[in-house]
Amino acid sequence: MALFEVRGLRKAFGRHVVLDGLDIDIFAGEIVTIIGESGSGKSILLKAMMGLLDIDEGTIRFDGADVAGQTEQEWTQTRRRIGMLFQESALFDSLDVYENVAYALRVQTTRTEEEIATRVSETLALVGLPGIETMAPSDLSGGMRKRVALARAVAVRPEVVFYDEPAEGLDPINVTRVNRLLLGLQKTLQVTSVVVTHNLKAAFAISDRLALIHDGAVAATAAPDAFLESSNPVVREFIGDRMRRVLRAS
Ligand SMILES: Nc1ncnc2c1ncn2[C@@H]1O[C@H](COP(=O)(O)OP(=O)(O)OP(=O)(O)O)[C@@H](O)[C@H]1O
Ligand SMILES: [Mg+2]
Repeated sequence: MALFEVRGLRKAFGRHVVLDGLDIDIFAGEIVTIIGESGSGKSILLKAMMGLLDIDEGTIRFDGADVAGQTEQEWTQTRRRIGMLFQESALFDSLDVYENVAYALRVQTTRTEEEIATRVSETLALVGLPGIETMAPSDLSGGMRKRVALARAVAVRPEVVFYDEPAEGLDPINVTRVNRLLLGLQKTLQVTSVVVTHNLKAAFAISDRLALIHDGAVAATAAPDAFLESSNPVVREFIGDRMRRVLRAS
């Protein structure tokens, strides 16, 4: 059974139909990367799967339970099991790194300050930034901000992590670093990862499976090798001949 089972998901904003009967399964322990044009609804899908926006139609099952119609209180319970790295990386600028990483621990769990401090320190070490608790977000580089945001997302040790553009806006060295980190966390914390990215090289390098969103639905899903050789015209056009050559060679 899939950990997430999304069926017939529909979401429109006024007359603009973004998701139109989307189906997707996410299996425990895998890294699935969702790709698709800008505005195709990738972020909307992640937000729907976390109960951060109301959907118009469809079902979302998480670990066997139908979560789409849950009350806000029930979602709060469900969200404890899901960590999210938002596209904007949104750290709280008025809080130091410690309080940023501690945030979910305070809101979602009942821990002593000592336990929180231990977990914050462990988690910062996990993302390769030990000892930066007292730094202010404004003093961090873009790459560090992403990693602190990642630490915040996994501080409660979720079962699933959603990454929305984890490497957006970073230089190539930091892109590689964040991707390596993502793979490391997948192993160390034994999570299930759902990644959204425009970086096809990264997507093909880290994923067990890729899913392409097109016209509000999943047009294709396959392991990277099969995806690359797909004869589906939507897939072929999205990847493009030049990128296909680059990916084959890498
Ligand atoms: N709150 C909102 N109100 C109206 N339209 C919205 C809202 N949120 C998203 N949309 C629209 O829904 C569409 C899908 O948005 P979404 O953010 O999911 O795209 P995306 O695939 O993540 O794109 P990108 O790759 O640029 O991040 C876009 O056209 C966007 O303008
Ligand atoms: Mg997006």
